[in-house]
Amino acid sequence: MSKRVERPGVRNGYDLWAPSYDRTPNPLVALDRRYAIAHLGPRAGERVLDAGCGTGINLRSIATAGAVAVGLDFSMGMLRAAQHAVPGAMLAQADLNSELPLERSVFDALLCSLVSEHLTNLSTFFSETFAVLRRGGRFVFSAFHPEIARAGVEANFEQNSVEYRLGAEPHSTDDYLNRMDDAGFRCLRARDYVVDDVLVAEIPWAVKYLGRPLLLIVDAARP
Ligand SMILES: C[S@@+](CC[C@H](N)C(=O)[O-])C[C@H]1O[C@@H](n2cnc3c(N)ncnc32)[C@H](O)[C@@H]1O
Repeated sequence: MSKRVERPGVRNGYDLWAPSYDRTPNPLVALDRRYAIAHLGPRAGERVLDAGCGTGINLRSIATAGAVAVGLDFSMGMLRAAQHAVPGAMLAQADLNSELPLERSVFDALLCSLVSEHLTNLSTFFSETFAVLRRGGRFVFSAFHPEIARAGVEANFEQNSVEYRLGAEPHSTDDYLNRMDDAGFRCLRARDYVVDDVLVAEIPWAVKYLGRPLLLIVDAARP
């Protein structure tokens, strides 16, 4: 029997996915877990924002480092999972395509992991993230690699024999870097991370991406 395909929209899709998200084998998420928090290097006493925090896996690492962890997401399903995973985190519902409901110039560091292919207003997103960081604040921006996203691959999951597809905006690496530069971010350094044998041993179907870049991480700072 062939699978039915549905496109529930991004927010509804993540609401549906939230209860099983952390159990879905996903090479992109596995690569992000290997590198994103290491790039961020959260420290005790810092205020750190996770923009698009999902189920709270990165928030937990931020809190474990002794930092004050704040998470935003527009999916209530994801926020409920994050609340359960990191009971001490401060969480709020917000759309990252709009003005953020946060005080300006207060965060020491900011992480945005695996959200960007869903963003439709990069200029607002980068100017708002810039505004809530303090001077000298660090920004780690991790993205589904544009090379793969622009080839038509998109976030998807299966539930009860239905395949849900969540779409991917066709942003390029230059789109990201140029909009970050326009917003005022400096010290931009972009790195691609490729799928390797270790990842394929963990998630065998990822072999189709072996040797290809699946994750882009940009390190930046507010001067
Ligand atoms: C692939 S998940 C990644 C979650 C988390 N950062 C992680 O690394 O596990 C993408 C998350 O971005 C959120 N998201 C997507 N578009 C958003 C938007 N416009 N505003 C706020 N959150 C958004 C989704 O609800 C979802 O939780």
